[in-house]
Amino acid sequence: MAFDRFGRKIHYLRISLTDHCNLRCVYCMPEDMTFRPNPELMQDDEVLQLAGLFAELGFDKIRLTGGEPTVRAHIVDIVAGIAALPGIHTVTMTTNGVLLAKLAGPLAMAGLKRANISLDTLDPEKFKRLTRWGKLEDVWNGIQAAEAAGLTPVKLNAVIVRGYNESDVASLARLTLDNPWQVRFIEMMPFAGATDLQTGGVVRAAEIQERIEQAFGPLEVANDGQLDGEARVFHIPGGRGDLGFISSVSAPFCASCTRARLTADGVLRTCLLREHELDLLTPLRAGASLDDLRALILQAVWDKPWGHGLAEGEIPMNRVMSEIGG
Ligand code: 5AD
Ligand code: SF4
Repeated sequence: MAFDRFGRKIHYLRISLTDHCNLRCVYCMPEDMTFRPNPELMQDDEVLQLAGLFAELGFDKIRLTGGEPTVRAHIVDIVAGIAALPGIHTVTMTTNGVLLAKLAGPLAMAGLKRANISLDTLDPEKFKRLTRWGKLEDVWNGIQAAEAAGLTPVKLNAVIVRGYNESDVASLARLTLDNPWQVRFIEMMPFAGATDLQTGGVVRAAEIQERIEQAFGPLEVANDGQLDGEARVFHIPGGRGDLGFISSVSAPFCASCTRARLTADGVLRTCLLREHELDLLTPLRAGASLDDLRALILQAVWDKPWGHGLAEGEIPMNRVMSEIGG
């Protein structure tokens, strides 16, 4: 088991499989983003070796992220390899959904349990503006394919950006009337790469909820008022699905954090929004023993920062979002 010095049990690892992406969301990366060359990224066997070490230390849940994890070569084999590791109970993915129409079935067969799919608006023009070149229809087809493949409950992630999609929250929420989905509204967080927009365009969860309640009346608390992961959950009375609010900026959930992150280049990051990092790939490549690597991981987990420093104006600038995986 891996505990931090505050007594939090850390057992959920998010692995960024690549910093590359087939979209360029304005809140995530600059349009002229340059990506890391492939040799700097963890190779397939390295991903499995490192994931195996975490599994031995009591990590039981792995989420694959990016960039966009589905653009990684051999993604289906990687999922199968991770799902087969002793101790791993759940493998999930966060994806933009563009390639899911093709991949949802094979990924589910390989052992993927669920997918969180990004969907920031239902308006094709706004979708293009937010993603810089995405086609809403591809994502919609991906969502249907994920549901058909049993990657359920489908969770849709909407990052709300002032001037882009804050007036779309009610139409997104409406999806939960007829579909058993969880639509999650995410406060934009600041990183390097798009910091001005990210700090200037935050729409707080309270405002998002207010806009939804203006359209549908007061929301009902769901999940007995417990957090679902990092989301506070509600439903529209009579709706089949849930609404989630992820208020990392206005109401951080650090106290209940169980996560660590492995960046695409094999660096352990114990807080999304702090710059502390520990390189695991370099020692792995230099022939470090598995015992040494396990000890490094345990020490880094022990030293996990209590929480982020956004309120004090501390913004992590050493990496863009797509290298860390959100
Ligand atoms: N703030 C919050 N969420 C973000 N994502 C990407 N950039 C940001 C940001 N600046 C989200 C995406 C997706 C996941 C990969 O991270 O919408 O759900
Ligand atoms: Fe790609 Fe996701 Fe970043 Fe959008 S948010 S550019 S889909 S990694």
